[in-house]
Amino acid sequence: TRYFVPRDATARAVGADAVAAALASGVAEHNHAEIVRNGSRGAFWLEPLLEIEQDGKRVGFGPLCADDVPAILALEAHEYATHDRYLGPLEQHPWFAAQQRVTFMRAGLDDPLCLESYLARHGFEGLEHAVHLSPGDIVDEVTRSGLRGRGGAAFPTGVKWRTVLEAEAGQKYIVCNADEGDSGTFADRLLMESDPYQLIEGMAIAGVAVGADRGYIYLRSEYPDAWQVMHTAIAKAEAAGYLGQDICDSGRAFHLELRLGAGAYICGEETALLDSLEGKRGVVRAKPPLPAHQGLFGQPTVVNNVLTLAAVASIMADGAEAYAGLGSGRSRGTLTLQLAGNVRHGGLVEVPYGCTLREVLDTFAGGTRSGRPMRAIQVGGPLGAYLPESLWDTPLDYEAFAAAGGMLGHGGVVVFDDTVDMAAQARFAMAFCAAESCGKCTPCRVGSVRGVEVLDRIIAREEGARNLALLEDLCDTMTSASLCAMGGLTPNPVRSAIAHFPEDFQ
Ligand code: NAI
Ligand code: SF4
Repeated sequence: TRYFVPRDATARAVGADAVAAALASGVAEHNHAEIVRNGSRGAFWLEPLLEIEQDGKRVGFGPLCADDVPAILALEAHEYATHDRYLGPLEQHPWFAAQQRVTFMRAGLDDPLCLESYLARHGFEGLEHAVHLSPGDIVDEVTRSGLRGRGGAAFPTGVKWRTVLEAEAGQKYIVCNADEGDSGTFADRLLMESDPYQLIEGMAIAGVAVGADRGYIYLRSEYPDAWQVMHTAIAKAEAAGYLGQDICDSGRAFHLELRLGAGAYICGEETALLDSLEGKRGVVRAKPPLPAHQGLFGQPTVVNNVLTLAAVASIMADGAEAYAGLGSGRSRGTLTLQLAGNVRHGGLVEVPYGCTLREVLDTFAGGTRSGRPMRAIQVGGPLGAYLPESLWDTPLDYEAFAAAGGMLGHGGVVVFDDTVDMAAQARFAMAFCAAESCGKCTPCRVGSVRGVEVLDRIIAREEGARNLALLEDLCDTMTSASLCAMGGLTPNPVRSAIAHFPEDFQ
């Protein structure tokens, strides 16, 4: 019998370690029991989750606490279904059956550090395939897949890689942006904690594709569990020949190192990230030059998000067509949405692009946690728009969302019920920008502070119309004159709150 209890940070935060300890003492006398600390499948509303595998059949129970464990251990297999936390085989559970997992297909199935398990589930097949191709052919494959940057900007990955491949330089780099700073997002963390070899594989493929023999993962310091998993996974991958001087006996080198950020949101912006990686204070650089031409230490650099690089592993294993066959319009493949805020069933869901926000909410969210009606949904992190119900039928693809004044960003979905005060949320956007601005340009550094002040006056009902006009003017300036997305996109949540929820500003 194998027992699976996730070691993921969220599962641990809600008591998975205590469940594992109760299990360990409960099964101590059984010779044939093995406790596996797997990654999380991303159904955080079911954590701590326990899965029991017997005779090739694996069933789940959750959410549990340590006190539930003795009663479950006392059950015979044919009695499992009588337990009120019994979930059955998780693949058949409606919350998972309605998803189409590609990047997260392995998440939560095994001990994330077990290399044999990764290999048994088609791990490193993409890299083995890639090392037999020319760099140009790998880039072509990624281009044909239609993959776009999953950090939020959705820039075509193949075009970015082609730029770095064609740049003339003695040294090139692959940098993974794992500084997942958007509120309500956790997909990068889940991937790193549940399937770290997939990221390593994607980075090694990127290295081979563009001629970079060195890569860095820039990881936010708020993710200590991810750091531990990635650190060990890198060492194990290196020992097994998937990283280092001669990867997959191909004669090509790829060295990978982990670097910790220090908690600044702006260090998720690629050029501030590069400054930080170089040991400087993270301040946004003017573009051009693009990092693809002059990035880390002035050398051509691919900067991609965790999910972008991870997706490359399955694209190279299964072929570009399989990936491009999913999705809608110019948004190909799958989208990982992170359901958070006031929802009953929070967690990560992976679906093809093209379904609507309402379908996702109806299928997965289970309503609000408070039981009250949903009023506003912020998609795309703190710089994303607040969407009223009239826009929830917008298809989840980059262009359709942009046309509706929204942004998919990194796939964060934060739900608010009807008690939300949208003027306070608009103020929060400006306050967040004021706190996280790198300070380099005036529209953002000063504009965000003035934005908080003017919103305070609106909230205090002082000269409403005049102050709203002033705020609109300020938003215009921030949108058109900020150096980066931090100042440039902060007006999104502010303007959407005013446009869609005007009653909160009167
Ligand atoms: P951007 O549109 O300036 O650039 C996107 C990427 O494409 C960059 O890597 C850029 O260097 C590259 N690029 C652009 N033109 C290129 C060319 N001709 N050749 C090669 N490469 C080229 O967007 P930016 O400022 O990098 O990202 C903004 C987005 O970040 C926002 O839309 C937001 O969704 C997202 N974001 C994500 C966060 C997270 O936690 N994941 C946090 C904050 C923002
Ligand atoms: Fe820095 Fe803000 Fe200007 Fe971006 S917009 S460069 S974060 S001051």
